[in-house]
Amino acid sequence: MRIFNNKKDLKDCLLDYKTNKKTIGFVPTMGALHQGHLSLIEKAKQKNDIVVVSIFVNPTQFNNVEDLEKYPKTIENDILLLRSASCDILFSPSVTEIYPKNITSEKFNFEGLEHQMEGRFRDGHFDGVGTVVKALFEIITPEKAYFGQKDFQQLQIVKKMVEKHHLPVKVKGCPIYREEDGLAMSSRNARLPKEQRSIAPFIYKTLQKIQQKFDTKNISEINEWLENEFKKQPLLTLEYFTIADEKTLKSAESKKANKKYRAFIAVFAGSVRLIDNIRLKN
Ligand code: PAF
Repeated sequence: MRIFNNKKDLKDCLLDYKTNKKTIGFVPTMGALHQGHLSLIEKAKQKNDIVVVSIFVNPTQFNNVEDLEKYPKTIENDILLLRSASCDILFSPSVTEIYPKNITSEKFNFEGLEHQMEGRFRDGHFDGVGTVVKALFEIITPEKAYFGQKDFQQLQIVKKMVEKHHLPVKVKGCPIYREEDGLAMSSRNARLPKEQRSIAPFIYKTLQKIQQKFDTKNISEINEWLENEFKKQPLLTLEYFTIADEKTLKSAESKKANKKYRAFIAVFAGSVRLIDNIRLKN
């Protein structure tokens, strides 16, 4: 695996591959890699000639300084994992390499997707994500880029950005990778204290129950049921729960036959914020 910290060297190397008509699959990450990331790399390997992974903890997408400071950094272990996954290239730039002038975000219009859910609780988050993903796409120019569906809103927003800015990349959403007990894999899980870690699978178990209830109950009954379930869990604080239209991400009040829905949740386990979602069958 080749490792690059600067854009110019990376671009020169990728140009050689492009000249030889090799296709590039790209997996953007913020490091602290886990099995979920490795599953994206595996997908990328199946469909492309070479795989580039980026590790960059992007400051502009953090609305909370403490969250940025405490974001796990495990670069040596990440490199070992990437080698074992036969990743071809790691791009691990410094902040000034990505933000040579100011550490600020571009302002995007994602046609309202950015104002729902995470956007309501994490001010400026999606401008930060859009800024860094667009910059990485421009540097790496991949044919395909792979994102996990745990961050389903991020996935939809990246697809919208690609469409609006006519970026020549296909964005692929990949299934949520879970621990054996159902907890969605996330780099933040490493920060969970023991007690919170043991209760955290409750989030997915509750989503699975919602999936069953969606057949027979209406949305307001489900919302009320869920809020009561979380009131019984002193170690988990519900930030939001919503059943939303998969396309617009707007909260739904009633079910419509021709729409696809997903249940989305954000929960604090102590100071660690966890998100998850599940597809609902209409
Ligand atoms: O999902 C993430 O890890 C980040 O939001 C991403 C896509 C790497 C952009 O910083």
